[in-house]
Amino acid sequence: MDLAPLEPFSVQIDFSTGLLAPDPDILDRRMFDLAGYFQTDITDPSAEAYSVHELRVPATGNNLLSSTTLLSAGKVGDEYLFTKGHFHANRDRAEIYLTLSGEGLLVMALEDGRTVTKEMRPGIANYVPGYWAHRSVNTGTTPLVFYAVYIGDAGYDYATISERGFPVIVVEGDDGPEVRPNPRYASS
Ligand SMILES: [Fe+2]
Repeated sequence: MDLAPLEPFSVQIDFSTGLLAPDPDILDRRMFDLAGYFQTDITDPSAEAYSVHELRVPATGNNLLSSTTLLSAGKVGDEYLFTKGHFHANRDRAEIYLTLSGEGLLVMALEDGRTVTKEMRPGIANYVPGYWAHRSVNTGTTPLVFYAVYIGDAGYDYATISERGFPVIVVEGDDGPEVRPNPRYASS
């Protein structure tokens, strides 16, 4: 099948805010969207948790999708605020995260429960191979902003994480962020 080539384009990214021009598609997540994800109950359901700003490109396997994510700073109990996290619906699809501002941790997990955690700070690019669920955690005091690039037909599987949780949680310890086993993780 021959498809007409897309028109090349450029986008302006504000590294401190993650805002894009021209306007992207925007997905807003509020704290109530994360109800049940933390060890303790959320206290401010209407507060903004994060937003994802995605460039408008067809979600097909021959394209690269990309987005900025602006993740607020804060904690629920002693857990740092995080994104829901997902596997890709097409499990083998990979992704790259480039942190633009703020600081955090990228927590990745295989379905068998193995985890790897990597630092996120400006200038670091994290490679997320296929099969690894991924969640970003804001361990700083300012918004965590990153740019993600992923194969267009990766898709999202949020349900597995919603039902089982991540194998680890990130909490504020005496000497900074600590990665601990998630007592509520439902191993398969
Ligand atoms: Fe992803």
